Amino acid sequence: MTVPVWHERFCTGNATVDAQHQELIKLVEAVEESCAHGTNRAEVSHFIDAFRDHVLEHFQDEEAEMNRIGYPEVQVHQRAHEEICGMVMGMVEASSRGEVVLPSSAQALGHVLLRHMQCEDMRLVSFIRAKGGREV
Ligand SMILES: [Fe+2]
Ligand SMILES: [Fe+2]
Repeated sequence: MTVPVWHERFCTGNATVDAQHQELIKLVEAVEESCAHGTNRAEVSHFIDAFRDHVLEHFQDEEAEMNRIGYPEVQVHQRAHEEICGMVMGMVEASSRGEVVLPSSAQALGHVLLRHMQCEDMRLVSFIRAKGGREV
């Protein structure tokens, strides 16, 4: 298993969301690569922290938009975000304790994230379009 690379088929069609998603996939790739090299813990921490910051900002943007538009699946979507945040914070904490973070953790995170983009995020974007709303 490797970290998924970005592909056009993952696009939701929403430019803002897609740009943030591409950045997240790039960062999870950087996390995996630094974990695989395994020699520079500061670098591993740097990429994990950068991923955490970007993913939290992205989730906040999506959740603010869901609340603004009264999205009916907001709770299910938020639970999916919480699950991903739990994985990320586990990696952040392990890394800050000086533990080795395995590339398989980054790979698992990449796959969960991508599944979320293709399922819950795609449903949100479809809902916004159906309402004729503006982009997230
Ligand atoms: Fe989401
Ligand atoms: Fe998203």
